[in-house]
Amino acid sequence: MGRALAGALIAAGHEVTVWNRTPGRAGALVAQGAREAASVAEAIGVSEVTIVCLLNDVSVREALGPVTGKLAGTTLVNLTSGSARQAREFAGWMREFGVRFLAGGIMAVPPTVGSEGAFILYSGPRDLFDRLAPVLAPLGRPQWAGEDHGLAALYDMAALSGMYGMSAGVDHAVALVHASGGDVEAFKREVLRPWMEQMLAPMVEGADVSESVPEEYNPAMQATGLETMLLTSDEAGVPAELAGHLRASLWRMRRAVAG
Ligand SMILES: NC(=O)c1ccc[n+]([C@@H]2O[C@H](COP(=O)([O-])OP(=O)(O)OC[C@H]3O[C@@H](n4cnc5c(N)ncnc54)[C@H](OP(=O)(O)O)[C@@H]3O)[C@@H](O)[C@H]2O)c1
Repeated sequence: MGRALAGALIAAGHEVTVWNRTPGRAGALVAQGAREAASVAEAIGVSEVTIVCLLNDVSVREALGPVTGKLAGTTLVNLTSGSARQAREFAGWMREFGVRFLAGGIMAVPPTVGSEGAFILYSGPRDLFDRLAPVLAPLGRPQWAGEDHGLAALYDMAALSGMYGMSAGVDHAVALVHASGGDVEAFKREVLRPWMEQMLAPMVEGADVSESVPEEYNPAMQATGLETMLLTSDEAGVPAELAGHLRASLWRMRRAVAG
């Protein structure tokens, strides 16, 4: 992801300095015009903004911990995925060193960084977001989530939960057809995709907190339907673990029926 982000900034004409823990992985970026710093300390403060994108919160703290002295007075954007609380605590840590800080959440994958449809959530001071948005725009449309530094991470993780839920559903659907000897490719093309496309908007619009299922969704009928889906899955011999999303929905519908 770091490579994709740096590449998008270089393509937009920015001067970019890059650092990666394992040296030698920036060859393509250097060929495009990036300068490779030999250490984290060397990479901080040389540009208007320092963008961090490592594996997780722990790795960012490990990388920046030894160089906090150099961070004072700089501007930092952390695009590393983390939890909302991690983002708030990290913001507090940055405040200790007088760092102007935005937390981010990347709503893109490396090949789509900078493309139409890609967007990046940011949270933190609105004036800082407004100032940095033109610099950050080549990465994907900048979208402000709010002053609370935890909000970008919260929305990022919540959106990913939605995506992984759908992913679990379509993987289970395909496993079910495969286990039953069906034509998986034809099923994907002729049934699954048109069905998912038809249902995407109403599914997102209708999403509600787990305790409440609106009456018009007929939770009793849905509970019966979910039991039938689980029965079909068992009949086909699909591992029960792959049907966890159906059990989550069944639990919710039964709760709604029970009132
Ligand atoms: N890939 C995606 O589709 C995607 C989409 C949205 C958000 N993200 C987020 O972007 C971040 C990076 O993802 P990625 O796809 O680039 O993962 P990745 O390919 O696994 O790369 C992880 C990076 O973190 C570095 N790193 C790990 N531990 C470190 C440590 N202790 N100190 C310093 N550097 C360390 C690695 O350096 P080495 O090269 O030395 O191992 C590498 O550069 C993650 O938070 C991820 O959730 C990724």
